[in-house]
Amino acid sequence: MELIDGNAVASELLEELSKKVASFQNHKPCVAFVRVGEDAASVSYVRKKEKTASKVGIESRLLIFPETITEDQLLKEISYLNQDSDVHGILVQAPLPPHMDDHKIFNHVLPEKDVDGFNATNLGLLCQENQDAFASCTPAGILELLKRTEVDITGKHVVVLGRSLIVGKPVGLLLLQKGQPGNATVTYCHSRTPDLANHTRQADILIAAIGRPLFVGRSMVKQGAIVLDVGINRIPDNTRKSGFRLVGDVNFEEVAPLTSFITPVPGGVGPMTVAMLMRNTVKAYEKSLQAGMTP
Ligand code: GUN
Repeated sequence: MELIDGNAVASELLEELSKKVASFQNHKPCVAFVRVGEDAASVSYVRKKEKTASKVGIESRLLIFPETITEDQLLKEISYLNQDSDVHGILVQAPLPPHMDDHKIFNHVLPEKDVDGFNATNLGLLCQENQDAFASCTPAGILELLKRTEVDITGKHVVVLGRSLIVGKPVGLLLLQKGQPGNATVTYCHSRTPDLANHTRQADILIAAIGRPLFVGRSMVKQGAIVLDVGINRIPDNTRKSGFRLVGDVNFEEVAPLTSFITPVPGGVGPMTVAMLMRNTVKAYEKSLQAGMTP
């Protein structure tokens, strides 16, 4: 078993990006973070994204709105950011409050500023295998981890556990793409799939993104499989000052000995999500320069 060190790969990537950003004259790339409400995990994720942006030399703005903001008000705020030529990327942190239509909000972000890759245009472009579009950050991070681990995906059977718009659906599409990294055979399964273990045991590469702590156990994994754990779940832990600890969707202790490669939680896929967001922001900035939008 070999550990895939997401922190190390993300650091490498961020270093490459820092050098690139340092070479930009005058304006620097700028990303706006939009957070609605005080969900503890969202507060912590956005803080991490802000810190990383600052390390790389990317400017950021943080807009915090109360849980009670109406959908129309939030759409208006996004319009301001869409129109602001100093802002190159916009990220609306999920989850949004239940009174909002997530898709409507994500679709309102201009496709060329959609560094999260959540809007319908970028998802459509992903289906068309357009390399110029913004791919969502966690799926793109997973591909980058596989690439830098020198895993040949061609012909491999990938089983994606989970069907979210943020991870499950797009990661399957990326791995299915013609060319490398891609060319995988992809099976999607989810909480309503009967006899899940029967599917997951077929996986050469298993991507766990079902959002249930420690869900994937020994009986669900084939000997020698590559396991990528996307889950970040808080479970109560009285021995910690915070009162909780983070675990993935995979029962690491049980599963790791079976695998050829596995990502830990934390320190696996998570840091890659943030690194890919920075990469997308730099890409958005470069595209705006090409389009003559940034002075
Ligand atoms: N919530 C959980 N993951 C993500 C992400 O990658 N982007 C956004 N915007 N919200 C999230």
